[in-house]
Amino acid sequence: MTYLVSKPSSALISEATIPGDKSISHRAIMFGAIAEGQTRIEGILEGEDVLATLNAFELMGVGVDRPCPGVVTVEGVGKYGLSEPVRPLDLGNSGTSMRLLTGLLAGQRFDTVLTGDESLKSRPMGRVIEPLSEMGADIESQDNCAPLLIKGCSELQGIQYVLPVASAQVKSAVMLAGLYASGETSIVEPVASRDHTERMLRAFSQKRSEGSKALRISGDEKLVGQIVRVPSDISSAAFFIVGACLLPGSELVLKRIGINPTRDAVLRILTQMGAKISRSDIQDFTNEPVCDLVVHSSELYGIDISIQDVAGAIDEFPIIAVAAAAATGITRIRGAAELRVKESDRITAMVNGLCALGIEASETPDGMDITGGQIKGGQVDSYGDHRIAMAFAVAGGIASAEIKICDADNIATSFPDFVEIANQIGLNISESDSMENV
Ligand code: S3P
Repeated sequence: MTYLVSKPSSALISEATIPGDKSISHRAIMFGAIAEGQTRIEGILEGEDVLATLNAFELMGVGVDRPCPGVVTVEGVGKYGLSEPVRPLDLGNSGTSMRLLTGLLAGQRFDTVLTGDESLKSRPMGRVIEPLSEMGADIESQDNCAPLLIKGCSELQGIQYVLPVASAQVKSAVMLAGLYASGETSIVEPVASRDHTERMLRAFSQKRSEGSKALRISGDEKLVGQIVRVPSDISSAAFFIVGACLLPGSELVLKRIGINPTRDAVLRILTQMGAKISRSDIQDFTNEPVCDLVVHSSELYGIDISIQDVAGAIDEFPIIAVAAAAATGITRIRGAAELRVKESDRITAMVNGLCALGIEASETPDGMDITGGQIKGGQVDSYGDHRIAMAFAVAGGIASAEIKICDADNIATSFPDFVEIANQIGLNISESDSMENV
């Protein structure tokens, strides 16, 4: 098990390049694998979750090469070119791999078993099984949890589906199944979730144009291999953005960060709290907007976070909770019950950790209240969750004494170079495989 110790640090004055976006990396592999011809993915995240997706397709006969760091080529086999894997596909900790692959595999002509680690096996899969079954898929589960057996040869039919929860993973699973269904599949989202699948489909599809209705998919889509440029991940950048906001005298430049409007609510929330964040050099990377972000330190104030911003910042609440803990006044988060079914129960994990560090924090069924104050030193548990571990590692930089974090191994799922980059920009984090040595 990996332990981290994060010591109080001074200003973050630096420029940093953050690894590629996890959500976009998964989708680029998936579309590349079922497209005709080669796909070259530049700036791909080489974290464990994305590698789990890559390995899954290799096991289904897709040729993959990694010619240099950050670049992967995928030899597309076409929509019906995948072959039956010889063993279950182990997706580790990755919910995105499991939910999206369930949709993509529901229309194949062979059986597949999807499994993962203990955390992934406890996460709700009924949310994808239900609409896919409505389309005609035959999926066996353990009480709506993995391992999942996806039976081949199902004839899928398009459906009209109204998403009961704001979930890009569910939406994307239905969209991917829609590529194999007869007729049209259409999806209605009560609240907009991240739209990377829609943007990626537009890049790979022969039929789609700028004006195509994104959430209507038909089984006759033809996909053609592409060069995909992956933006840097705003969810990973968020840890250092908050660090720079909170450490006086900071000036941090983060290059080519994805600022898709369905993902950038963390910037809006922090700005409402008083953060000074500016954008420059806006570009387009395969239908995704990117820019350089410049962050200057500033006083932060507690706010009531708008429910409208919850879906767009769903992965950033652990680090937003740290910002709230160091802000003046109370921050209230509501409408975020989804946080309870992420890699850990992130409401309980953050409230327990912050309380252990001397901050007044309490849970509600769908959120938390955090009263800002001086974060003290202490020991916290990550609950095996990468984002909880990284959030408390940043908290160590602003705390009055060092913070020890237990069980930080899963940082490698989304941000393998986290400790190295954190230390390059001015944080002070060390890692060890035993608590005694840290
Ligand atoms: C993701 C969607 C989100 C997010 C996850 C990645 C995706 O999950 O929390 O880390 O790539 O589609 P939900 O769609 O379940 O909210």
